[in-house]
Amino acid sequence: MQPANTLLAPSILSADFTKLAESIALAEKAGADWMHCDVMDGHFVPNITFGPFIIKAIAQCTNLVIDTHLMISDPDTYIADFIQAGSNQITVHQETCAHLHRSVQLIKSLGAKAGVSINPGTPVSTLEAILPDLDLVLLMSVNPGFGGQKFISSSFDKLRKLDEMRNAMNPEMILAVDGGVTVDNAQDLVSAGADALIAGTAFFKADNPAEAAVKIKSASR
Ligand code: DX5
Ligand code: ZN
Repeated sequence: MQPANTLLAPSILSADFTKLAESIALAEKAGADWMHCDVMDGHFVPNITFGPFIIKAIAQCTNLVIDTHLMISDPDTYIADFIQAGSNQITVHQETCAHLHRSVQLIKSLGAKAGVSINPGTPVSTLEAILPDLDLVLLMSVNPGFGGQKFISSSFDKLRKLDEMRNAMNPEMILAVDGGVTVDNAQDLVSAGADALIAGTAFFKADNPAEAAVKIKSASR
């Protein structure tokens, strides 16, 4: 169901990992809706982060929706592990799934919500066939691999197209944007169709994360 207010998903990638529980509490207190967990394998993307073991620790610290973004090759092998660890939503990349429909059905059969993400260089048309089956699309507005990158402005066109596609095919589906989100572009992103905004740097590295959260969440259609 599309939310009335903009959903905020701080990305744990930009948090202080020596204070994981405190960082999660900060996000909760600031009114975050999801905890975005970026899983990177050093193969699909040029960086390595963490796996189910850390997701389990994060899930034990919070009641926020655990939104797991799998930037890994062959995600089907690990989907069950990530759901068992406490992920409520699993997003796989279109670029990593030879059998995307099978991956999506696997996520759903294990009781989690299913999302698909596309890189900046991947056209939205690649999602046309799978869109009716999805709970979530995660539009990458930076090339995945690192936090703190600059927003790629051509993402706006893709977002508008995706908004049209979901209105026609799956109005309940959530449209999320990930990468380079700031308090300054949040309103434009929501106006273009975003329901959920992932914010790593803009939340955890803000001088006042609580204030940043309020600004991002107040973006409205
Ligand atoms: C990029 C990750 C993003 C990233 C967002 O590969 O998927 O979730 O952490 O970080 P910011 O908000 O700093 O661009
Ligand atoms: Zn992400």
